[in-house]
Amino acid sequence: MSVDLSTRIGNVELKSCFYNASGPRCTTEEQLHRLGASQSAAILSKSTTLELREGNPKPRYVENDWGSINSMGLPNKGYLYYADLIPKMQVYDKPYFISVSGLSLNNNLTILNYLKNLEGISAIELNLSCPNVPGKPQTAYDFEQTKRVLDAVFRSDQHLLGVKLPPYFDWIHFDQMASILNQYPIQFVTCINSIGNALFIDPQAEAVVIRPKEGFGGLGGAYIKPTALANVRQFYLRLRKDIQVIACGGVKTAWDAFEHILCGATAVQVGTQFMKEGERCFERLENELMDIMNHKGYTKLTDFKGKLKTV
Ligand code: DHB
Repeated sequence: MSVDLSTRIGNVELKSCFYNASGPRCTTEEQLHRLGASQSAAILSKSTTLELREGNPKPRYVENDWGSINSMGLPNKGYLYYADLIPKMQVYDKPYFISVSGLSLNNNLTILNYLKNLEGISAIELNLSCPNVPGKPQTAYDFEQTKRVLDAVFRSDQHLLGVKLPPYFDWIHFDQMASILNQYPIQFVTCINSIGNALFIDPQAEAVVIRPKEGFGGLGGAYIKPTALANVRQFYLRLRKDIQVIACGGVKTAWDAFEHILCGATAVQVGTQFMKEGERCFERLENELMDIMNHKGYTKLTDFKGKLKTV
């Protein structure tokens, strides 16, 4: 039986549902070329700011068997770098997405207004949820500020645009954020960014393990899968049906991805596992998911997408 892993975000076609999360291994031209040459269904850049940033002091990323903690502090090459790469990324027959995480609303508008005139970007993922810049709150935990940002962003025509959300933990917050997002021509929502301001401790050393922010950083990997699944499900149930939910959080094997798709995900990003395993994770995940679907008699993602049983 042939199994089709293709999917679609707005009018953007993806050959499979797996691609990289913004963050690991997607900052430099070389890394983006590697993604291009891999089985990743898309190339998504590191979140970009107006200017180049070196990021926080190291060590700023640590992993263990269950996941990772990071406080990178938005090291990136600045938006013009990712814009200048557009022609080079066209040789790969896949979408090129740019993640935008300006340090202020004005910076975001400058970046978005520049990018909107350029051909060859398939979509923008507007990051409303970076937890690691000292003194900068996560925008999407401030619902009024989120509205101000989206009002301003959608005042002018935009590329296909989606937002990356932090995890929510309260029923009313799911309701409130979904009802805000439903008011805008958003095409996709990525759930979730890392669980912010977690803490890893080395008990032998009696010390934190990363240097920035006294050891606090964003949690990723298997630790966060249940929270990610919950957010995918809650937003899938609440958002307009033309807004796609992209899953991100705790995908190590295709069973994890299968669970996210059952919750309603249209595509699945891979963060910590991509950092650990490198580009070969995409082909492995595709093969594993095809095996699962074959066993279950499914031929396409929509055979089970969103169909989580609740009784
Ligand atoms: C960083 C971390 C994030 O979770 C994010 O969304 C953007 C940037 C960082 O520390 O670089």
